[in-house]
Amino acid sequence: MRQPIIAGNWKMNNTIAGTKALLTDLIPLVADAKAEVVVCVPYTDIAAAGEIIKGTNIKLGAENVHWAEKGAFTGEISADMLVELGVEYVVVGHSERRQYFGETDQTVNARVKAALAKGLKPIICVGETLEEREGGLVESVLVRQTTEAFKDIDKSQLENTVIAYEPVWAIGTGKTATAQDANDTIAIIRNTMAELYCKDCAENKVRIQYGGSMNPKNASELMAMPQIDGGLIGGASLKAVDFSQVVKY
Ligand code: PGA
Repeated sequence: MRQPIIAGNWKMNNTIAGTKALLTDLIPLVADAKAEVVVCVPYTDIAAAGEIIKGTNIKLGAENVHWAEKGAFTGEISADMLVELGVEYVVVGHSERRQYFGETDQTVNARVKAALAKGLKPIICVGETLEEREGGLVESVLVRQTTEAFKDIDKSQLENTVIAYEPVWAIGTGKTATAQDANDTIAIIRNTMAELYCKDCAENKVRIQYGGSMNPKNASELMAMPQIDGGLIGGASLKAVDFSQVVKY
C-alpha cells in the first residue's frame, strides 16, 4: 500500500523566528498523524527547523536543489549541502520555478538525478496551466512533464520519488480541482508511470500528491479518492492548526 504523504511547501515565507513558532505549535498537533508529514522550508530556515523537529514525526524538506555537485553557480544550493542539514525531501520543478525562474523539463530531470544520487527524495511537481487545460492539452502536458522528469531514472529509485500533481490554475487561487477531476488527472500520470516502468511500479511504488488550494475544508474529500496519495500544501501549511487538519484529513 502507498502511505499517504502530506508536505507543506512554505515557499518564501517565515524567518527563523517564524519557523520556530510555527513548528513548535505544529509538533503536538500532528504527533499522531497516520500520514507521513513533511515541511519544505526556505534554505535559511532548514537548520533551525531541523533542530526543532528532531525526534518528532515531522520530516525535513527543501524547496529546490541544484543539479551540479558543486562549483561556480552563485546563489545555488547543492544536494550535499541539504543532506548535511538532515534534509530528506526536496521539491523539484514547482510551477513557480517553471514560471518565474526558467525551469524546464530538462533542468527538472537534472535536479531529480542530482537529488537521488545523494539520497534525497524529490517531490516532482507537474501540472497544466489554465491555457493548456482550456486548449485540451492536459494529457499531453502531463505525459511530457512526467516522461522528461523521469528520463534515465532507474526503477529501483521509484520508491524514493513522489510526484505532485498541481494544476497551475489552482495554486494560491482558492480554486481547487474537484476531487473527481484531480483523481482522474492523477490516473493519467499513474498510467504514464506504468508505461514508463511497469504496472506494479505505478500501483505500488509511486506516490502521487494533489496540490493547489488544498485546505482543511477540502482535504478529506480529496484524500478519499483512490488515486490521491497525499497533498502538497502551500498557503494552508503556514498556519499550524490548518496544516494539522489537512494532515489528519
Ligand atoms: P497552495 O500552493 O496550497 O497555496 O495553492 C500549493 C503549492 O504551490 O504547492
